[in-house]
Amino acid sequence: MHQKAVIFGGGGQLGVELCREFERRKWTVQRFDRHSLDITDAARVEEAIAKTDAQVVLNAAAYNQVDIAEKEPLAAYQANALAVRNLALACRQTGAQLVHYSTDYVFDGTKGVPYVETDTPHPLGAYAVSKLAGELYAQAYLSDALIVRTSGVFGPGGMFTPRGNFVELMLRMAKANSPIRVVADHVASPTYAPAMASRTADLVSQNQRGLFHMGGGQPISWFDYAKLIFDLAGLKPSLTPTDEREYRTAARRPKFSALSNSKLEGAGIAVMPPLREAVQEYLASREHVTAHRSS
Ligand SMILES: NC(=O)c1ccc[n+]([C@@H]2O[C@H](COP(=O)([O-])OP(=O)(O)OC[C@H]3O[C@@H](n4cnc5c(N)ncnc54)[C@H](OP(=O)(O)O)[C@@H]3O)[C@@H](O)[C@H]2O)c1
Repeated sequence: MHQKAVIFGGGGQLGVELCREFERRKWTVQRFDRHSLDITDAARVEEAIAKTDAQVVLNAAAYNQVDIAEKEPLAAYQANALAVRNLALACRQTGAQLVHYSTDYVFDGTKGVPYVETDTPHPLGAYAVSKLAGELYAQAYLSDALIVRTSGVFGPGGMFTPRGNFVELMLRMAKANSPIRVVADHVASPTYAPAMASRTADLVSQNQRGLFHMGGGQPISWFDYAKLIFDLAGLKPSLTPTDEREYRTAARRPKFSALSNSKLEGAGIAVMPPLREAVQEYLASREHVTAHRSS
């Protein structure tokens, strides 16, 4: 049977990789970015899903502005929760499987070791609440939804998006010669978008459903992550560690939100690439883009 997928949020870091990966696997992909379809528009979502008659609908669209969400919680809830309800209802009508992404921030960070799928969520801020609500809508309306929680996503698409990613932020600050202070007391598992896309496609081809964690595999503090980026980029900016008491943000964030990939690996999905390799690959694609632009 010819395989068709609809991808929402196709302009984001993960969205571009999902399009690439499913097309590489010879799926017919209908891609929507925010400009072509806003997922908060229930009627347009329903029409798009019904028209394409796809077996799989992937939602990589999200409101990811964790701090701004504290001031505008409704905007976060509309995109991350109510829009997922729209997608789930539309999938239920056509029988398509929904693949949806969520976040390590559904946890409060007090566990101290990587979180597994059976751990109880306890979101600390408006963004995290909205993402957890999105998971619940998907699970409430669909029995076969695949929900993938991830952490600190970075991918080449972030070179071109307004929000970018942590690697881009660090490189930008180094270029500006700004002194850089990064929290050393918060730990996550930064995740490489191309690796996520290929493992998502593997999960889909295995007909998996339910909740999976897909983190970068290596718990690392944001400070050590910044150090790794600068080492690999051959830069020596003024980088000093700070902590959450000194570096205040509008939203509370979990101190330790690394995700365990044990369920994913137990399902036979390839181990995520080591963070060092992923950052190296990211920087190589960055160089390639820069060289292309200047030629
Ligand atoms: N980035 C992270 O560090 C991180 C961490 C944990 C989990 N996640 C999750 O991983 C998934 C992929 O994230 P990502 O890093 O690829 O995010 P991203 O690069 O910010 O991409 C998200 C895309 O969604 C679009 N979008 C926002 N609201 C929309 C709407 N109402 N309708 C249609 N499109 C909309 C954005 O468009 P605009 O740019 O125009 O807003 C953007 O293109 C998301 O579910 C995210 O919550 C990400």
